[in-house]
Amino acid sequence: MPIITHFRDSARNAIASLRMRLGLRTRLRRALKPLEIPLKRTLEWLLLVRWRLSHRRWGYPLPVGGYVNEDELRLQFRNALGYLQQKLGPEGIGDYIEFGVYGGSSLLLMYDELLRAELSHVRLFGFDSFAGLPSDSDGHWQEGAFYADYDRVVQSLNRRNVDWRRVTLIKGFFADTLTSALIAKHNLRQASLIMMDCDLYSSAKEALEFCGPLIRSEAIIFFDDWNPLARENKGEKRAFDEFLQATPDLEAEAIGDYSWQPGDLHGKVFRVYRASS
Ligand SMILES: C[S@@+](CC[C@H](N)C(=O)[O-])C[C@H]1O[C@@H](n2cnc3c(N)ncnc32)[C@H](O)[C@@H]1O
Repeated sequence: MPIITHFRDSARNAIASLRMRLGLRTRLRRALKPLEIPLKRTLEWLLLVRWRLSHRRWGYPLPVGGYVNEDELRLQFRNALGYLQQKLGPEGIGDYIEFGVYGGSSLLLMYDELLRAELSHVRLFGFDSFAGLPSDSDGHWQEGAFYADYDRVVQSLNRRNVDWRRVTLIKGFFADTLTSALIAKHNLRQASLIMMDCDLYSSAKEALEFCGPLIRSEAIIFFDDWNPLARENKGEKRAFDEFLQATPDLEAEAIGDYSWQPGDLHGKVFRVYRASS
């Protein structure tokens, strides 16, 4: 065989083999796509188990990734900001208040979305024990779960260049921190965006009671842990139903859902508004 033909055939073979490999890889990636989130979570859990075994400690070392599905939540945040901007005007939007910060994923997501929407005057407040969940009378959650060390969360937000003039983290259990003194200290007047990511009925109840007077004409509330407990009328849904019953001039309209794993509709979003306004 002439040498030129030999080179040409080798080059053709190499290209064909590369194509086949790339094709296989694309097909494999497509086949695995639905498993992406479960795989990510499984890896996180494996890391967590390894950490727990080596440190002999219950709870979470520090955020091993957030406990929110960022893509879906981002969309809900974006929709909410667009809606509020139209309804209240940029200057009419009050604070973002988050109950359940853990490693700060959802807080950072809102921080980014506010910048993107040119709403950087909106302040962000994050409440968390930074000691994990309190005890749960319903028995669904492990006390101390979602432990995140306050200093390490601050460090991680620093790495993201968070502007601390706009962000305030309030450390402690809600029963101790959600006070009128805190309202006065931070001049809290209006909550327009409320993120309820504290898992428990009792925590959500405390948080909603605190927010009631801060909801002016309307606000958007994100319940990150709505399902599956809502299907049994428990958890955050129970707290929200009781809150609405106790505040008859507030009406609620469901405006969105989001999932942690495809289709689980873990999170639910409501627009709440004063019937009189
Ligand atoms: C699921 S994690 C929050 C996830 C977080 N939003 C994220 O983006 O990763 C729930 C958090 O709620 C906090 N929490 C729940 N009930 C609380 C309470 N009564 N007081 C203070 N923190 C509470 C826990 O400490 C925990 O960090």
